[in-house]
Amino acid sequence: MKKTQASQKQSSSKQASPKKSSRKAAAATAAAAPDEQSITSVLHESRLFPPPEQFSSVARVKSLREYKKLRKRAEEDPEGFWSDVANELHWHKPWRKLLQWKAPFAKWFVGGKTNMSYNCLDRHVEGWRKTKAAIIWEGEPGEQRTLTYGQLHHEVQKFANVLLSLGVRSGDTVGIYMGMVPESAIAMLACTRIGAAHNVVFGGFSAEALRDRMNDSNAKLIVTQDAAWRRGTEVKLKDAVDRAMPECPMVKHVVVLRRTGTPVAMHPGRDHWWDQMMESVSGRCAAVPLDSEHPLYFLYTSGSTGKPKGIFHTLGGSMVWNHYTTRMVFDVRDDDIYWCTADIGWVTGHSYVIYGPLLNGITTLMYEGAPNWPEPDRFWDIIERHRVSIFYTAPTAIRAFMRWGEGHPRKHDLGSLRLLGTVGEPINPEAWIWYQQTIGGGNCPIVDTWWQTETGGIMIAPLPGATPTKPGSATLPLPGIMADVVRKDGTSCKPDEGGFLVVKHPWPAMLRTIFGDDERYRKTYWSNYKGWYFTGDGARRDRDGYFWIMGRVDDVVNVAGHRLGTAEIESSLVSHHDVAESAVVARPDELKGNALVAFVTLKSDKTPSDQLKETLRNHVGKEIGHIAKPDEIRFTDALPKTRSGKIMRRLLREIASTGTISGDVTTLEDFSALERLRDGEEE
Ligand code: PRX
Repeated sequence: MKKTQASQKQSSSKQASPKKSSRKAAAATAAAAPDEQSITSVLHESRLFPPPEQFSSVARVKSLREYKKLRKRAEEDPEGFWSDVANELHWHKPWRKLLQWKAPFAKWFVGGKTNMSYNCLDRHVEGWRKTKAAIIWEGEPGEQRTLTYGQLHHEVQKFANVLLSLGVRSGDTVGIYMGMVPESAIAMLACTRIGAAHNVVFGGFSAEALRDRMNDSNAKLIVTQDAAWRRGTEVKLKDAVDRAMPECPMVKHVVVLRRTGTPVAMHPGRDHWWDQMMESVSGRCAAVPLDSEHPLYFLYTSGSTGKPKGIFHTLGGSMVWNHYTTRMVFDVRDDDIYWCTADIGWVTGHSYVIYGPLLNGITTLMYEGAPNWPEPDRFWDIIERHRVSIFYTAPTAIRAFMRWGEGHPRKHDLGSLRLLGTVGEPINPEAWIWYQQTIGGGNCPIVDTWWQTETGGIMIAPLPGATPTKPGSATLPLPGIMADVVRKDGTSCKPDEGGFLVVKHPWPAMLRTIFGDDERYRKTYWSNYKGWYFTGDGARRDRDGYFWIMGRVDDVVNVAGHRLGTAEIESSLVSHHDVAESAVVARPDELKGNALVAFVTLKSDKTPSDQLKETLRNHVGKEIGHIAKPDEIRFTDALPKTRSGKIMRRLLREIASTGTISGDVTTLEDFSALERLRDGEEE
């Protein structure tokens, strides 16, 4: 049945009305005496959405009571709890010890031997899943391919043999610089099969970014493709590799997949065509039993806060966590068609496009291109045609969909959807409600998942059959995660008091170090609070213990003595019906210490004007309080973002303060957005 607005029913009578926001202007909070120790939280959202009954009744965890029982068990009997989770997977040799913790260095499942590729593939092909779709792929121009678990297993073994034939050995690093094609998954799984660590570099990054990441991780071989499709044009990946290669002395071989057919230069002896190499190797390559702490991958963080860090993850802990969190948070079923829209070039692509779904034996969908190609309804078209049941995307994408208008999703039958997810940044309540209503038809729970490249997997999120959700809150920590919001001195914040988000106990998928820089690892994450992991995020917990992430602490501004999370002011701006997106930063101000500058993108049919600026300032004043009113509003048609969708506030801060940019911009997606801002050009 086509899910139209008219047929959208609230699935529970207890559910709050999405129209009636009980968001309070928390002027009182903002006006309270500033506490140097903590962060002032100004937005309060109290709509509550219980899990739909039809979802809960068949979910793995059906109620908050069950969730609390699990959480208690994980805290009181970690040995038993984690053994149960880890033993759902195959271990070539059982571990001796669950955790060895010499802060800040952790080892999990000590002494155990296992293999990621074995657990993603061999385990399934031994049974009925051999003929089940593992990957459904759609290219931007429209081609489609389905790889069953059996076929994927075969391709991965062959590519593992290609890597071996080119001298890659267990413990080596392989760079992967590709787009969203099944071969990027094949390459990752082949690495894990033979014990090579992969270092995936997002295909939108420059040759310089690739060079630095290859050199920093000592990569020996790069897997790439001639070019990738994005918004109807070719992204010339092989050309970028060629530009990087003269300064990558460690890289001896480049394997090139033919994707678009564009002519590329092939360097004899160094460059090899994927298809030719695959022809000459055997289809059998046994998965190597590897130590639980064997390197799994390096991933360089997005760089929205300065020089990229090589986040280092190991096998056993990541595998168990990806398996467990996919199962718990998405409550996956064998008949699910699961689509996470992230690119494999960032951590969500690793954990929730490839590993989590394949470990759980479900069907994962990969789409190559842009959401608005050829039309802004491409995602909804994909959901309708492939009967996608779980859809996981980023708030920045949701805001873009809102901007393009609900006519696009309305054209399609989205009735196959049963669960929606978000990741990557705080989602403003307006976008949450739009997502829930317009995409979910009011029937799908939303899992707002908080985590980081460093955490390797989801940490704070609702369990969709158990946790009532509140728009804008990632809700509660997963069983096994001991998160808290603390003051500078380490004492826990009171309910609704903003502070610093920490994790008080190690967890399996935590980063092991910053590659080659233990000191930076120690300093960045472990020096603020002894023995606790500092996330770098500001947050508050409400009276129900729900976590509200306020964004990076670097994005907290101090205005006239109040430390305000810029995400909250942005959320208030976006709640105005003319605004599509906004980013708020501070610039030094003689009088107030800091002045707030709001960069605002309007919905496509709205026109910027001085009057609108004033209206928006007053809107924030009314919603939050006078204190949070932006001193300056600048309209822009685009904000500078990383390719993973994060607004690069660091650049906006520079523009707002100095009118120019001097910092690292290698991770920026669209330079023209920046150029226009720098020139002070407004829409
Ligand atoms: O600030 C938090 C924000 O994204 C940061 C992690 O970014 P990255 O390492 O690129 O990983 C993104 C994919 C997990 C966090 O420190 N963040 C991520 N998810 C959320 C979020 N902020 C609020 N709510 C979320 N659900």
